Amino acid sequence: MSERSSVTIDVHLNNQDPAAVREEIRAGLLATPRRLPTKYFYDDRGSELFEQICELPTYYPTRTEHALLTGVADDVMARTGADELVELGSGAATKTRVLLDAMARKRQLKFYVPFDVSEGIVRRVARELAEEYEGLQVHGVVGDFLAHLEHIPQGGRRLVVILGGTIGNLRPESAEAFLSSIERETAQGDFLLLGVQLITNVERLEAAYNDSAGLTAAFNKNMLLVLKSVVGAEFDPDAFDHVARFNHEEQRIEMRLRSVRPQVIPIPELALTLHLKDGEEILTEISAKYTRPQVEALLTRAGFTPVAWYADHEHLHGLALAQKH
Ligand code: SAH
Ligand code: TRP
Repeated sequence: MSERSSVTIDVHLNNQDPAAVREEIRAGLLATPRRLPTKYFYDDRGSELFEQICELPTYYPTRTEHALLTGVADDVMARTGADELVELGSGAATKTRVLLDAMARKRQLKFYVPFDVSEGIVRRVARELAEEYEGLQVHGVVGDFLAHLEHIPQGGRRLVVILGGTIGNLRPESAEAFLSSIERETAQGDFLLLGVQLITNVERLEAAYNDSAGLTAAFNKNMLLVLKSVVGAEFDPDAFDHVARFNHEEQRIEMRLRSVRPQVIPIPELALTLHLKDGEEILTEISAKYTRPQVEALLTRAGFTPVAWYADHEHLHGLALAQKH
């Protein structure tokens, strides 16, 4: 007799305070240097573009992490004994299947919680996985993982995973606050598996964010379209160039949109008229690269105990396993 799978989806984005959303965007646009919140990359089109980026030959992190997970998934499941996988920033959950397969092999697989800001992809992934894994209970959460973590459903013996170097998209203070909030929302004995991109040569790093097919540029500019739907801002994507450079001091790739001419952009909903000079840049994304000691120190400050470290042979990508005691 086979057990039936089930799907539940909770959406928490609707109860965001519109004034706070406007203020966050306004403050970023007026800051020096100007910046925009990363989460606005990801509407349905942004998620789709990101999936295509992951297939690019120059975008090595996805392939590398996939292969690494394949080699270590059984070890992770043996160490954690997890029967519930909670994935923050789950996206298309392609690599997640490697972990779910390892749980299924141990006959331990019960719950999967995909948590992402992009509603369309959470719904799709929930449906797909419930179909692929017999008896799996999928409880999707659509929300901001920096604000809505308390909505992770109560569950079993949990392994929280953050893959794809998503942690690198947060500033150091914010990364630590994020991990601390995960620590608060989990139970004693729960585990965290954290993917991190490691420092490597600049040519390789910059090539990963400057593909010749222009997909990363399209992804970067998609934020301008998302901002139109969020605050009615009329940006012209063709009036911006995509720029991605490695910042040596901060050990991170920085992505920007550079105005190709002087622009005056009225944004009535923000009570703001944006004046951009020719060549002026807006920071849209950082992607920090870590070292093993930095990751383990970060986890420790957030209250976790590092228990295992995995990396590929070229040391491009790392996975840190940590436990809440
Ligand atoms: N884990 C996937 C996707 C990584 S891309 C992989 O490894 O390929 C980062 C993911 O985090 C995207 O799916 C994006 O929608 C999601 N995300 C970004 N900011 C978020 C936020 N503040 N709250 C919830 N999800 C977020
Ligand atoms: N976190 C991944 C990275 O930094 C994925 C990602 C986020 C990304 N924003 C991006 C990849 C922009 C390419 C371009 O690599």
